[in-house]
Amino acid sequence: MSSVKQNLSRSAELPGSDSARLDIEVLLGHILGRPRTWLYTWPEYELSEAEQRQFDALLARRASGEPVAHLTGEREFWSLPLKVNASTLIPRPETELLVETALQLFPQHQLRALDLGTGTGAIALALASERPGWHIVAAEKSADAATLAEENRRALGFDNVQIVQSDWFAQIAPQPFDLIVSNPPYIDAADPHLAQGDVRFEPRSALVADREGLADIEQIARRSVEYLETGGWLLVEHGWQQAAAVRDLFAAAGFNNIDSRKDYSGWERLTLGQK
Ligand SMILES: C[S@@+](CC[C@H](N)C(=O)[O-])C[C@H]1O[C@@H](n2cnc3c(N)ncnc32)[C@H](O)[C@@H]1O
Repeated sequence: MSSVKQNLSRSAELPGSDSARLDIEVLLGHILGRPRTWLYTWPEYELSEAEQRQFDALLARRASGEPVAHLTGEREFWSLPLKVNASTLIPRPETELLVETALQLFPQHQLRALDLGTGTGAIALALASERPGWHIVAAEKSADAATLAEENRRALGFDNVQIVQSDWFAQIAPQPFDLIVSNPPYIDAADPHLAQGDVRFEPRSALVADREGLADIEQIARRSVEYLETGGWLLVEHGWQQAAAVRDLFAAAGFNNIDSRKDYSGWERLTLGQK
């Protein structure tokens, strides 16, 4: 057994993590049921035997590469606490660009939106939190991920979001949407990054797409035209080197006013087009 302060100084036990100190703070706060700031207010607090055992176990799992979000079962997105598990992607901060762009495009209070491949529900629930008057349909192919999204929806109490288990548009009744958003799988199966870091613990079905990662985006662009109102927009997140190819796919599908937006690292990570 040891103090909070002693446990905070165990970064050397996570040599494979580039955020070892932060990982330890999050895991320790999780075990103690306290916010990270509490750890610095009570550095002399002695962990109980059970707390120490639980923390040691989580630290060992983190050392073997498991994502912190899988160990705590939670990740914040757009300031919303979302439950996460191994059925889908852990929401990434860069996806907030898609939410921001959708909110800028559509300041109005009434609208019909569709989120394709909702995973935890991250994008749909973030939009719902900002626009309670929107009706948002969120489609997800994986039954486990759809269940997770529904749990998150219910926990946050957003009645304006409907989670549907669907292979892209298959179970979506024909109806005109003003906005379709998606962060689909877009990584090429041969990408070496798939063997590094958190993605090793995320399902391939959430990450990988055929044809150099573009097959799902192509399908979404092609089918979205049937589901959008004239003047409606499609917004798709994609890989940092895919913007030009995605713009071509949007053009081939018949979109106008096609544009790509840069993330905070300066990479074009989002493409949008208008019907
Ligand atoms: C990159 S993850 C994005 C998850 C979430 N939207 C986010 O931004 O955190 C892609 C999601 O698409 C889902 N997916 C993959 N193929 C699909 C399909 N054919 N139809 C519907 N969803 C699909 C995956 O299960 C996964 O949850």
